[in-house]
Amino acid sequence: MPSNWWRTAVIYQIYVRSFADSNGDGNGDLPGVRSRLPYLRQLGVDAIWLTPFYVSPMADGGYDVADHRDVDPMFGTLADFDALLHDAHRHSLRIIIDLVPNHTSNAHPWFLAALAAGSGAPARDRYIFRPGRGPHGEQPPNDWRSVFGGPAWTRVPDGDWYLHLFAPEQPDLNWRNDSVREEFRSILRFWLERGVDGFRIDVAHGLIKADGLPDVGSPVQAELIGKQELPYFDQDDVHEIYRDWRKLLDSYPGERIGVAEAWAPDNHRLANYIRPDELHQAFNFHFLGTPWQAEQLRSVIDESLATADAVGAPTVWVLSNHDSTRRVTRYGDGPHGVRRARAAALLMLALPGSAYVYQGDELGLPEVSDLPDDVLQDPVWARSGGTDRGRDGCRVPIPWTDQAPTYGFGEPTATSWLPAPPTWAALSVASQDADAASILNLYRTALHLRASAPGFAGETMRWLDGPRNTLLLQRDHGLVCAVNVGAQSVTLRPPAQILCASGPVDRGPMGELILPADTAAWYQS
Ligand code: NOJ
Repeated sequence: MPSNWWRTAVIYQIYVRSFADSNGDGNGDLPGVRSRLPYLRQLGVDAIWLTPFYVSPMADGGYDVADHRDVDPMFGTLADFDALLHDAHRHSLRIIIDLVPNHTSNAHPWFLAALAAGSGAPARDRYIFRPGRGPHGEQPPNDWRSVFGGPAWTRVPDGDWYLHLFAPEQPDLNWRNDSVREEFRSILRFWLERGVDGFRIDVAHGLIKADGLPDVGSPVQAELIGKQELPYFDQDDVHEIYRDWRKLLDSYPGERIGVAEAWAPDNHRLANYIRPDELHQAFNFHFLGTPWQAEQLRSVIDESLATADAVGAPTVWVLSNHDSTRRVTRYGDGPHGVRRARAAALLMLALPGSAYVYQGDELGLPEVSDLPDDVLQDPVWARSGGTDRGRDGCRVPIPWTDQAPTYGFGEPTATSWLPAPPTWAALSVASQDADAASILNLYRTALHLRASAPGFAGETMRWLDGPRNTLLLQRDHGLVCAVNVGAQSVTLRPPAQILCASGPVDRGPMGELILPADTAAWYQS
């Protein structure tokens, strides 16, 4: 009998470069992750997703892969990976790795061969090379824009242009070419045989481009998480690839999974990626983008449940990741932002399905919006001409101790690749360990309850009537999650037993639950 572990799993996202640095070079690495497995076990997550650690020139934080079958020296060795996987399994933690099939690095041997081979050569057909427009081919082949800003085409010295939906250092592969398909099957097998539990598939919606590469007709185009229909995203033929991969995943024992990082114009299109013969999960970015507002949260939750349910898949809740502004900051920063982030954590973890926790969210880390210009590495910074500071502010290394400057991330005297703010001592794991009311201890309590309390069983939920600005949901086996997203306290019927609350709550004279603004509570009704 399959355990279907992935239908309810809490998966912790590790941005490897920023998690733990074992050798003092300022960059997190795989041995660093391995040394912190007890922390993750104690936190109570079921699995880890590792962002790319492959050989890479790091033009886009490792999402520019030059060798899919080896570890970049910055992150360790293949032996370090094997040791990490082995230890994680000993701790009953599964490991999902990132797979980047939409593009490679421009330092990948295939791209180097394509450049060397010249216009029209078969080696160029693995990528998307085209002649330019205009009398001398001096204009790009179409009007597509890079997600990172600027045209999605770069010209090579012999006059051809190549497509890159992201940075110029990330040429798009041509998924209509069989050798590309065969290579990725072989890469999947390579890691499956090493024992990984699954793959998070980067830009899963981008692999197939519309025939003829038609113009979009508008300069306003792709965002990483957008809703527009575009000729380079979410094309029907992409699903063939996932049907093929699903067969491959299923041919290995142990319920290996595929998780789509997919953008789709609506939830129905998104559900296509998680039909029974395709991938197991797809991130629900519509939830991530929803403001702290009762009606909007309720409708995005309903819509997500209904569409995933229609294809028999679990919903997958995501509130943040390495591409989005830290949640505390999105919710208004300071004590206000932290209060909402705590309540949002209880909301997300009460919903049926699987949930992702991005490293540092359990510490309530804010976005670091004032990193010095000269340390910024996200290609968005340069490609926007210095107008968009990019995503580095949510990638600052984790503070483990209260010892500045690196807070236990690396050697005490080392400089980490992004500096942590001087105020982070109080946010460190060590400081929060000692504080029963810390957000870290809230996460630990919530994750352990989610895994063990009988009220969380079952795969559905219903809404209960409640006061204005309050979300009141009940799981199949009685667990209630109440979230007051408004600015005034609300009074709720007396609960039988309060299991956990995101902040201080009160009781009325008849035992009613008085839930302050921006607070959530779990209880048995
Ligand atoms: C999505 C990844 O999450 C992001 O970090 C990356 O820049 C793009 N895909 C391109 O690979």
